[in-house]
Formats: sequence, structure tokens, C-alpha cells
Amino acid sequence: MTYETILVEQRGGVTLVTLNRPQALNALNSQVLADMLAAMVAFDADPSQGCAVITGSEKAFAAGADIKEMQAQGFADMYAHDFFAGWDRFTRTRKPIIAAVAGYALGGGCELAMMCDFILAADTAKFGQPEIKLAVSPGMGGSQRLTRAVGKAKAMEMCLTGRMMDAAEAERAGLVSRVVPAADLVEEAVKTATTIAGMAPLAVKANKEMVNAAFDTTLAMGVQFERRLFHALFGTDDQSEGMTAFVEKRQGVWTGK
Ligand code: HXC
Repeated sequence: MTYETILVEQRGGVTLVTLNRPQALNALNSQVLADMLAAMVAFDADPSQGCAVITGSEKAFAAGADIKEMQAQGFADMYAHDFFAGWDRFTRTRKPIIAAVAGYALGGGCELAMMCDFILAADTAKFGQPEIKLAVSPGMGGSQRLTRAVGKAKAMEMCLTGRMMDAAEAERAGLVSRVVPAADLVEEAVKTATTIAGMAPLAVKANKEMVNAAFDTTLAMGVQFERRLFHALFGTDDQSEGMTAFVEKRQGVWTGK
């Protein structure tokens, strides 16, 4: 399948998606949304694929939502079409997605990275929510996900001033899981994704669901949700295989059942 604004390739069990609008620093327009959703639906449905990596270019993961597409819009258009609501579908992808960020991840670019399950950053990465400079605000979840990721103080300062956070600060603040040299970013992300793709598929989905539940529930409800999913995994063939393989000192062989 070919797309207009993204490149998609499979590397073993890993789907590597590269944003490809270099003329606009990978700004996210409606076509990127349509392409990305189609690619993620195909990824989720393909049993040979276990984890995705989304990356951009050396200069920009994505420099935001496409300002030129939004420039002439008024409230009625934005509200009637529930602009950006389509990205909610992206967050319903059930298999894990890693954002591999080099260069600018600004506005919608930072928000897209935060919609992924975790972010690996190159040492060149710069994160920011500069929408306030355009007299608007984050619109793809940035004010909520950034605040949950780094806490109120940093999120508020970034949203109110538009200042960027570099990779080292992003790692200290807990926005990214790790920082790697820019030259190694994609290779490292694919390696990490390959590790995930090698795990039992139902356990991968359950782990993703329960960590995400921590953002949406009280502690008591989240712990209960975790425990029930943990119990449910004991109904799978792969649980039996995984524990038997450990006892027999061999690698487990998964059926995804
Ligand atoms: C449309 C964009 C763009 C964007 C860059 N470009 N960002 N086009 N939407 N978000 C285009 C530029 O217009 C330019 O096109 C080309 O990409 C290269 O960008 P330059 O600005 O020339 O590059 P540089 O000088 O290196 O500066 C890089 C940059 C700057 C600092 C990242 O481009 C920048 O500030 N971009 C906007 C960042 C931003 O405000 N993002 C938030 C968007 S709003 P031409 O044709 O001139 O060569 C958003 C909101 C979400 O995401 C929700 C609420 C509305």
C-alpha cells in the first residue's frame, strides 16, 4: 500500500512509518491524518506485525498541525467538523506504537508523539506547544497529555510561553523514555519495537491497555482493571507456554491464543 504523505515499510514484525512532507517539516494536514489512520488500521489487522514505529526526518518529527490548512477556518467550520477529532481513532490502535523523535516535535507534532505509547528521542529532539504564539492552544490533547507526562509546572510554562524543551530536559521530566544519538534513533527504535513484537501478542495488548488505564482511572479502579486483565491472561495458551518454557529453560513459542 502506498500513501501520499507517509512511507510505510515492514521490518520483520515491525511497521516503520515515516512522515514524508519535507516541504512543510511534516506538518500534519488532513491527508496525513487519513494516511496515518489507514496505516494504523492495516497494522492492527495484520497478524504478522507486532509493534509500530513512527518517525519523521532528521530536522522535524512534525512541526505541528498544518497552519496553512487552518489559517482561513472559523469557529463554525472547526466545531461543525470537530476538527482534530479524527486523531482519537489513532489512539485506539491496540498494538503498541513508539514515536522516534528527532528535531522539532511542535504543537500537533508533540501531541502526535504523546499519542504514541512511548517516545524515544534523538539528542536533537525539541518538544514544544507553541500554539499560543498563533493566538490558539493545543487541540490534539497536548494540554492534557503533556500535563500528565511532565506535571503542571512545566506543562503550564510550555503552553503559556511556547518555549521548547530539549531532549535532556524531556528525559529528566519523564516525557521520553530514553535519549539516543540522532544517528542511531531509527535503528534503536526498530530494535526496541522488535523486542516488543517478539512478546506474546495478547500479553502485549493487555500491558498496553493497563498502563494506559493509569491515565484514565482512579488508583483503585486501575489496580482492579490490571488484576482482572492479569487473571484473563491465565486463559491464554501463551501463558501456559510462557511459564512451561521458563521451567524447561527454553524460549517460549507464541501462538497468539
Ligand atoms: C504549515 C509549516 C509548519 C506548520 C513549518 N512549515 N511548520 N507549514 N504548518 N506547522 C513550513 C514553513 O511554512 C516553510 O514553508 C517550511 O515548512 C520550512 O519551515 P521554516 O519555518 O522555513 O523552517 P525554519 O526556519 O527552520 O523553522 C522551523 C520551525 C518553524 C521553528 C519549526 O517552521 C516553525 O515555527 N513552525 C511552526 C511551529 C508551530 O507553530 N507549530 C504549531 C502549529 S499549530 P515555505 O513554503 O515557507 O518554505 C498546531 C496546533 C494544534 O500544531 C491545535 C490547535 C490549532
